[in-house]
Amino acid sequence: MRRPMVAGNWKMHGTRASVAELIKGLGNLALPSGVDVAVFPSFLHINQVIDGLEGKSIKVGAQNAAVESKQGALTGEVAPSQLAEEGCSLVLVGHSERRQIIGENDETLIRKFAAAQACGLIPVLCIGETLEQREAGKTLEVVGHQLGSIIEKLGVGVFAKAVIAYEPVWAIGTGLTASPQQAQDVHAAIRAQLAAENSEVAQGVRLLYGGSVKAANAVELFGMPDIDGGLIGGASLNADEFGAICRAAGN
Ligand code: 13P
Repeated sequence: MRRPMVAGNWKMHGTRASVAELIKGLGNLALPSGVDVAVFPSFLHINQVIDGLEGKSIKVGAQNAAVESKQGALTGEVAPSQLAEEGCSLVLVGHSERRQIIGENDETLIRKFAAAQACGLIPVLCIGETLEQREAGKTLEVVGHQLGSIIEKLGVGVFAKAVIAYEPVWAIGTGLTASPQQAQDVHAAIRAQLAAENSEVAQGVRLLYGGSVKAANAVELFGMPDIDGGLIGGASLNADEFGAICRAAGN
């Protein structure tokens, strides 16, 4: 049995005051014991969140990390080793906003994934197709390539200590959600691609769905056999809504 995970990606949101408010709300939540819950604040707020959630079983991760694992001369970047020392346990790798807006490519993401694992961080590899790619019938090809680039360079075994998030770009922040069946179909293909290399790794890895998940659609999505939880954007900025999504994963 895979333990479900629900993670909140706060993206570039938050002020000291709004983060304090969110921490307070999270602290008051009754969270299901069978679900791993995590939040990904901006770098600036990681420390505040780790301190504020002390004693609460919510993991904290970063939304990005450097291609080099250890601190050094790399202006503007944050090393995975620095994140680990601060108390982070997870890091997002390859969110579509970073692929598309910042221009991160597979080569960079392979390095980031490896650097994160070298410091004991769990990478959450984000993959997903654009609307144009879906409409051209290329969803599985695109997602398969994004996943395949990591498998090819680092080996399938790295997914024994990683999480994968399928986030169709057209569903992110748009209010459009993949239907449970659409998401399940891609998740099943991702697991099959891993299983072709190593069935134990494929059965163990958590596959999260992301893209306009809310409390209202979470139960149905999380009910699918290959959906092991969610990566939540907008709805994770509201503690009560996020709590309801976490509880949906516990059912
Ligand atoms: P939304 O939940 O706001 O669509 O964002 C999803 C996402 O990108 C999480 O990483």
